[in-house]
Amino acid sequence: MIGIFDSGLGGLTALREARRIMPNADFIYFGDTGRVPYGSRSNDTIVRYATQIMHFMAEMRVDAALAACGTVSSVALESLRSFCHIPLIGVVEPTAKAAAAATKNGRIGVIGTGATIKSGAFERALARISPDVKAIGEACPLFVPLVENGFIQADDVVTLEVARRYLAPIGAFGADTLILGCTHFPIIAESIKRTLPDVTLINSGREAALALSEAAPAHSLEGHGSLTCYVSDNPENFRDVASIFLGERFDAPICKIDIERY
Ligand code: DGL
Repeated sequence: MIGIFDSGLGGLTALREARRIMPNADFIYFGDTGRVPYGSRSNDTIVRYATQIMHFMAEMRVDAALAACGTVSSVALESLRSFCHIPLIGVVEPTAKAAAAATKNGRIGVIGTGATIKSGAFERALARISPDVKAIGEACPLFVPLVENGFIQADDVVTLEVARRYLAPIGAFGADTLILGCTHFPIIAESIKRTLPDVTLINSGREAALALSEAAPAHSLEGHGSLTCYVSDNPENFRDVASIFLGERFDAPICKIDIERY
C-alpha cells in the first residue's frame, strides 16, 4: 500500500501520475481539507500537521509515502524522516533535478506557497544539483484558494490577472524554466502558460510520482490498483472538486477522519 497526502486537493495531481506509473499498486490518499491551506502557517504548525498525517499513514501500514505538498516537503520533510521508517518522498528534490535538466539558459523560476518560498528549499536543492543555475522564488499564495474554489479555466480572468501580477518578476528575470513548487498549481498550468508562454513548466507532482515509483518496495507495486481517500472535512465537497480536477468522475470511496486524534 502506498500513501499520498497533501493539505487538500493539490496532491491529486501527483496521485493521478502515480496511478498511471504504478497501475497495480493500492493507494490511499489523505487530503487535509479541514485545515487547508498550510502555506500561510508557521513552520511549527506545518510540522505538527504533517506529523499527525504520518502517524495516520503508519496506522494504515503504508509501505512508502509521498508528501505531495510543496509546503510540507519544503518545511517538514527532515523532521518526518527522523521518525518514519518507510521511504518518504517529497517534491523538492525530484522537481529541482528535472528543472536543472530542462533549463537551457540556467535561469529557473520557483513558485510556491509563502512558507515554501520563505524556506528557500527549492533554491538550495537547485544549488546542490547545479551550482551554476540562478533561481528566483516568488510566493503565489492566492493560487491555492483559486484552485480550491474552481477558478481553473485557462481563460479565467481573475486567475489570469493574479498570474500576471505574480509572474511578472519571473518574466523580467528571464527564466526559461518554471518550477510549479506547489501541487495545486498544475491545475492552472494553462493560465500560467498564457502568462509566460516561452517558459517550460515543471510539474512537481509528476516528478515526485516518478521518484516514488523508484523508492517504493517492489511488493507494494503488486496490488489490485485500488484507491481509498481520506479527508478531514466534508467528503462530498472533496468528491465534487476532485472530479473537476481530474477531468473524470471520481468514484473512489472517501472517508472522513479525525486527524487531530493522531
Ligand atoms: N498543495 C500545497 C503545496 O504543494 C499547498 C497548498 C496549501 O497552502 O496548503 O504547497
